[in-house]
Amino acid sequence: AFVVLDNCIKCKYTDCVAVCPVDAFFEGPNFLAIDPVICIDCGLCEPECPANAIVQQDKVPAEQHGFIQLNAELAALWPNIREVKPAPTDADTWNGVPDKLQYLAI
Ligand code: SF4
Ligand code: F3S
Repeated sequence: AFVVLDNCIKCKYTDCVAVCPVDAFFEGPNFLAIDPVICIDCGLCEPECPANAIVQQDKVPAEQHGFIQLNAELAALWPNIREVKPAPTDADTWNGVPDKLQYLAI
């Protein structure tokens, strides 16, 4: 499966959901998660993310390994998202800020 990583937090551009053929994205207050059971590994979402926050599970950097389990857990908790919506107004100022897990809202 593909995995949403740290840099999505507080950016949440949602461009990714427009291309997912199986609606594998689930929406929290400031982050999206991919359900690894639904994801068919098509890879279409990866280049769509302006924050470069999506990678294939095997390519997750060691320091973000926890996001693999986190995506699975949050996808089970949150509602499905199928439509692109406006990003937070300050999304661009958060794009690239490191270690945003502390800001994750559940
Ligand atoms: Fe959806 Fe494909 Fe991305 Fe998986 S890799 S979340 S199926 S767009
Ligand atoms: Fe997040 Fe990128 Fe999608 S910032 S909402 S993974 S387009």
